[in-house]
Amino acid sequence: MNIKIAPSILASDFSKVGEAVKKLEACGADYVHCDVMDGNFVPPITFGAQMVKAIRPHTKLPLDCHLMVLHPETHIEDFARAGADIITVHAEACDIPALFKQISSFGVKKSAVINPETDAEKLFPAVDAGADMLLLMSVHPGWGGQKFIEGTLKKIEIVRNYCIKHGAPALDIEVDGGITEENVKDVISAGANVIVAGSTVFRAPDMAATIRRLRG
Ligand code: DX5
Ligand code: ZN
Repeated sequence: MNIKIAPSILASDFSKVGEAVKKLEACGADYVHCDVMDGNFVPPITFGAQMVKAIRPHTKLPLDCHLMVLHPETHIEDFARAGADIITVHAEACDIPALFKQISSFGVKKSAVINPETDAEKLFPAVDAGADMLLLMSVHPGWGGQKFIEGTLKKIEIVRNYCIKHGAPALDIEVDGGITEENVKDVISAGANVIVAGSTVFRAPDMAATIRRLRG
């Protein structure tokens, strides 16, 4: 499958996010992963649709917006109008089929995500509802720089097998948290093809080379 790299601007210098997304594009990233946190679904607060709107003119890369928020339905329109290309909502926070209808109504790609402690099966309704992407968290959402939770690999396999058996063999499966140049091969072998990387990309001495190596 085509491997896509989605660096998270959570790990960038927030005083220069416009420059960061330009650099990501120049270094060969496929998506810009935007970690939106509301201080409720997860303890920290990061940024919202205004940030997405602010970075939109600085890159042509798709903006992959991961909403770690309660009541995501109250924010979809704002993110769509701000220029989000993909909106990912948590199965723990909403009714996925209803949110997918809302996201599609703005012509934006729809994706669903589960936390590490949520069963892989909770993503099945998202496949049935026509997801454009699925996301599995491989750390507890809220912070960058955590250690990859190994149990995620089995969950990726379960989800990829379900996709294969239910008419969506090539559905994009994204994995988010603790991904390094060392463990990325296991993540891809398990069936994922969209790789989020925050610390690994932004701490790299040579960002372009790291993005190339993450692609495998
Ligand atoms: C965690 C975020 C992740 C995070 C990944 O809540 O959803 O996207 O930024 O960062 P790293 O790659 O540093 O684990
Ligand atoms: Zn994320």
